[in-house]
Amino acid sequence: GKAKIIYATDDPDVLISYFKDDATAFNAQKRGQITNKGIVNCKVASHLFQLLEAQGVKTHWLDTPSEREMRVRAVKIIPLEVVVRNLAAGSLCKQTGLALGTVLTPPLVEFYYKNDDLGDPLLTRDRIRVMNIADEAQINELIRLAEKINTILQTFFQRCQITLVDFKLEFGLGQMNGILLADEISPDTCRLWDQAKSDQVDRVLDKDRFRQDLGHVAEAYQEVLQRILGQVSRN
Ligand code: TMP
Ligand code: ASP
Repeated sequence: GKAKIIYATDDPDVLISYFKDDATAFNAQKRGQITNKGIVNCKVASHLFQLLEAQGVKTHWLDTPSEREMRVRAVKIIPLEVVVRNLAAGSLCKQTGLALGTVLTPPLVEFYYKNDDLGDPLLTRDRIRVMNIADEAQINELIRLAEKINTILQTFFQRCQITLVDFKLEFGLGQMNGILLADEISPDTCRLWDQAKSDQVDRVLDKDRFRQDLGHVAEAYQEVLQRILGQVSRN
């Protein structure tokens, strides 16, 4: 993929996910590198997957043998980007006119089709069904999991004094263990706002710094990792 390389192992049920520093945005029209992003995202995602596993969410994460590598269960990725939004930002503001930061109660759960050629379009439940991507029960399960993950992550990031604005999840089908959370959760896939800052540019601690050329991209990623590590060691 664009940010990770997936390697096979001797065990067909296990893959290695290698995290690169490469960054893309706007369907790869914008490309660049963020220093040590791979290390930060691998560490952040590893911590968050462990946190979620501890609270009963099944994930593809097995262990983290090096600073850029995660061992994961091989899954068949469901071609959906499941986006959870607590505050309005990004494409939601652009497409609806809702003001940036509008509180969404209850949180919005949306599905986008993971297809670069089509530009990852927004789907409806009915479209997901007619496209044979998932059945009604699976769609309900994805929404239930997304909401549970949101509750766990919101609580955790609150302790880091970070507002979890929105994030993207991907799920896969395991051998027999049903739907597993897959891919990564990191500053690449979340919008994270520093609660210690009020300025709309200063508070951004996520990939929007890269997308919008806000500067200090690598520093923001490091700050997220430091907040998470500080939180983990206090548990
Ligand atoms: P959006 O506002 O651009 O639709 O993004 C919603 C969330 O999903 C945001 O946290 C960024 C994340 N995201 C990805 O992880 N990958 C993507 O390709 C896109 C477009 C968004
Ligand atoms: N990662 C996506 C891309 O390559 C989009 C994004 O995160 O903004 O375009």
